[in-house]
Amino acid sequence: MSARNILITSALPYANGHIHLGHLLEYIQTDIWARFQKLRGHNCHYVCADDAHGTPIMIRAKQEGITPEKLIADMSVAHQADFAGFHIDFDYFYSTHSPENEAFAQQIYLAAKANSHIEEKTIQQAYDPKAKMFLPDRFIKGECPKCGADDQYGDNCEACGASYDTTDVINPVSTVTGTKPINKETDHYFFKLGDFQDYLEDFLNSGAVQKEIANKMKEWFAEGLNNWDISRDAPYWGFKIPDSDNKYFYVWVDAPMGYLASFQKLCESKGIDFNEYWKPDSEAEVYHFIGKDIAYFHTLFWPALLKAGNFRSPTGVFCHGFLQVNGAKMSKSRGTFIQASSYLKHLNPEWLRYYYAAKLGNTVDDIDLNLEDFIQRVNSDLVGKVVNIASRCAGFINKKFSQTLSTELANTSLYQEFIDASESIAELYEQRRYSKAVREIMTLADHANQYIDEAKPWVLVKDAERINEVQAICTQGLNMFRAIMVYLKPIVPELAKASEDFLNAGELSWDSVQKPLLGREINQFKALMTRADKKQVDAMLTENQQHLEAAQAASQTESKQSESQLSKDPISETISFEEFSKVDLRIAKIVKAESVKKANKLLQLTLDLGGEQRNVLAGIKSAYAPEDLEGRYTVMVANLASRKMKFGTSEGMVLAAGPGGEDLFILSPDSGAKAGMRIK
Ligand code: MSP
Ligand code: ZN
Repeated sequence: MSARNILITSALPYANGHIHLGHLLEYIQTDIWARFQKLRGHNCHYVCADDAHGTPIMIRAKQEGITPEKLIADMSVAHQADFAGFHIDFDYFYSTHSPENEAFAQQIYLAAKANSHIEEKTIQQAYDPKAKMFLPDRFIKGECPKCGADDQYGDNCEACGASYDTTDVINPVSTVTGTKPINKETDHYFFKLGDFQDYLEDFLNSGAVQKEIANKMKEWFAEGLNNWDISRDAPYWGFKIPDSDNKYFYVWVDAPMGYLASFQKLCESKGIDFNEYWKPDSEAEVYHFIGKDIAYFHTLFWPALLKAGNFRSPTGVFCHGFLQVNGAKMSKSRGTFIQASSYLKHLNPEWLRYYYAAKLGNTVDDIDLNLEDFIQRVNSDLVGKVVNIASRCAGFINKKFSQTLSTELANTSLYQEFIDASESIAELYEQRRYSKAVREIMTLADHANQYIDEAKPWVLVKDAERINEVQAICTQGLNMFRAIMVYLKPIVPELAKASEDFLNAGELSWDSVQKPLLGREINQFKALMTRADKKQVDAMLTENQQHLEAAQAASQTESKQSESQLSKDPISETISFEEFSKVDLRIAKIVKAESVKKANKLLQLTLDLGGEQRNVLAGIKSAYAPEDLEGRYTVMVANLASRKMKFGTSEGMVLAAGPGGEDLFILSPDSGAKAGMRIK
């Protein structure tokens, strides 16, 4: 087999937030694949960078009273420390705010323009006259034009699920200054995605993208691909568009180009030929690992931009699903939004690497990190099965045979089973079916332990006539352990390294399994891994909660102190008692709660009003998991006229307080209140 040339990337993390365990699902998945390819002897390069541009970074820097340059520099240090902590071994980690990246953005844009793939158009956009800036949808809030719900984002409604244009929002306010935005004309540049329809269709049909994602993308083709707005007006934190009047590239234009820029830096430092990898007919392989939320950018816009710039398209775009913790979306209010740094203070990073590997397949299914299962799995597999093989055999070799392995194995046919597994395990890694690979490896570990159970070296060692057998049995055991460490090395590189030190025969490569270690001296055995303990998990959660609360408190003071309050919520005009008494507020019991498929924010609640049942759609999905609500009592408006929404009819409304998203709190009555009671 000849060595392949492989370039691998993970999505570039935004520079406006810290790395959390959700991100790590992706970086660990990618790192395992990169390490696997290297272990197999391929020329493999793994690059990444911070995604350092865009409005949120500009605004956050302003709020913190620092320059965006300082913000992204600090965040880059923090990100890299977190990645290193989890043994994510990038060959290069760069930033999209770099001269190389600016050059790629210009080069590709100018090539697209020269071939008439860029169109200029005057559009209407929301503008904050006080901040003197155009507003991205996320920075506008107001009433939903469809259902009238208050405090909704500028592009879609959490209450009814409608999407709309920012210009249609009723009573809009800028979240930057709290003032009312005006509509203002501006000239924007559009990338004519439709010009690449055939190319993209071929790309999606080529097998480079998982079927489920490809099919989803192809749905867009039916309606015809829209032109893509690639420009933003000043002030904007990004790269200026060449020959434009103070226009900037939208962050998603230069973000994926960060893959090119980071790889170019690596090429310069290592003497790799960049063009060999990126020329249109390149035989090198290029793979992007991404989350399913950004598939659109990576399977449509990005290949089209590459084509426009005369670069090759990716060999594969591999999408993964989202991380859940204890069966629900990661949540700040539930304390399951776990930051990488909190984890690293209390737990071994290889436990998480192993747990993710044991759960990851090559589909876009979500992955659940169940913290109890996590402890149990790590202890029973890594400590109880794998490390146990070595600790059961090492003592005898160390003490009775002057640390020397026998010159022959006790059971060559059993060892052959370990050799024979090599290609099937490799194939599972190659296909990113890590959970299946882990199962096969653990089956080998079971066989090794069974062998030792039956051979009983601890009995034979007491029998002067049979003591020599003990050396061969333990040599057999340690060689099976060694093979397992080779197969696990992409997942637990530090454990593999400690094992290499113990076995005293250099670095393990994939082929090391073929030839057992015989007649050599090994080193003294030291405990290779400790057991995970619930106390450590609890300590991590407590520490993480403190972080979250501190960050939240800081951002609240910031927004109070600065002019740019996130949302002003003044007390409304007074109403008469008669008007108030029209509102029929009732205690309701939540008998059933389900998430509404396809709606990002909605839960479907079945409420009991003491005999009568109501179906209510509530925009509280980001704050509550359905199972946390079932059985609870809350307060509802019982006489609100039914409303037909995109996802069904809502018969009433539950009351909640807070700015929205995860910070939303439904009301609970004191104990003793019964379903159906009227609130007076
Ligand atoms: N900056 C963009 C990517 C630009 S790539 C040219 C971005 N950044 S991100 O920080 O939000 O996410 C980085 C990666 O982490 C994405 O692939 C995203 O899907 C992944 N994840 C973020 N949260 C995640 C989970 N909770 N679970 C699994 N993956 C998650 O998107
Ligand atoms: Zn609505």
